[in-house]
Amino acid sequence: MIETEYMGLRLSSPVIVSSGPLTQNIVSLKNAEKAGAGAVVLKSIFEEQIEADVSREMEDNAEYLSHSSAEEFFASSSRDWYIDRYMKLLSEAKKELSIPVIASVSAKTMDSWIEYAERFIKCGADGIELNYYPISSDAGISGAEVDRRLISFAEKARAAIDGPLSIKIGYKYSSLANAISELDRIGIDGIVLFNRFFRPDIDIEKIEISSGSPVSQSDEYGEALRWIGLMSGEIKADLCGNTGIHDGATAVKMLLSGAKAVEVCTAVIQHGFSVIGEMNSFIEDWMSRHGYSSLSQVIGLLSQEHIEDGWKWERTQFLKTIGQ
Ligand SMILES: Cc1cc2nc3c(=O)[nH]c(=O)nc-3n(C[C@H](O)[C@H](O)[C@H](O)COP(=O)(O)O)c2cc1C
Repeated sequence: MIETEYMGLRLSSPVIVSSGPLTQNIVSLKNAEKAGAGAVVLKSIFEEQIEADVSREMEDNAEYLSHSSAEEFFASSSRDWYIDRYMKLLSEAKKELSIPVIASVSAKTMDSWIEYAERFIKCGADGIELNYYPISSDAGISGAEVDRRLISFAEKARAAIDGPLSIKIGYKYSSLANAISELDRIGIDGIVLFNRFFRPDIDIEKIEISSGSPVSQSDEYGEALRWIGLMSGEIKADLCGNTGIHDGATAVKMLLSGAKAVEVCTAVIQHGFSVIGEMNSFIEDWMSRHGYSSLSQVIGLLSQEHIEDGWKWERTQFLKTIGQ
């Protein structure tokens, strides 16, 4: 009853466990499947982190690495160590799980990393999710250029990766509608709206930068809902809701706006894997109550294309003040 198709994969449930702490070891991955998840996205392999670790190791071993070919050899074997470890988890997950396993690559610049994503597909990954997260802090770079870089990054990945490919993005683009349409045009199979990035804070006693809460609040889903509602009827690519989806009711909202699936992280961190079963049951109950027997009857019912008052997805202000 709640089967769905997302980026060409058949899922037994639209609830996917999102890349993060719950998808970095085989025990949790098996728990996700047992609880009823439709798919899992492995914890990302981070270009930035590996490159930083490799540089640190190289500095520590500088006296042994005076020759440039030794340096090159050291750097590439350190990278291979991370990649091999990732492939080991992926192979184990593919052996132990019957739901789709999606590998996740976090990259700021793609070039050398496309090759790794391709290796994950060869190793059995059912798809690749690219975690794309630049912060455009250079005042000399225009909004159009920021958007162009996203598309060029995705285009290179699409040309190189022979398998289902999704991209998880944030919502800070000058024209999100155009960016999403372009991602669709170049053949990206799935677009995850939206990633929740690290939020800086300040510790006023230590007078230093600290980290905001890594987990979302249950009212953070509105922007994803809006953009899925606005775009789902206009593109071929499948949209997946993410951020602030803590329960079955919010998952139903995402499906109604046009999401083919939802990714969840915080809800499982806070309530355990059983929340996935609860979300599945809620979706099923809701469908029965409203007379739907298949998710395809539900997905996109309230997308902008399908309703007369679709302009409501574009409202940005309250027209009346509270209490009027
Ligand atoms: C501790 C932690 C680690 C995460 N690591 C990753 C990661 O490696 N790759 C990624 O794409 N997203 C990562 N995320 C983001 C989640 O996948 C998800 O996009 C985000 O938490 C919003 O979903 P939620 O509201 O269900 O938590 C992480 C989130 C948390 C809380």
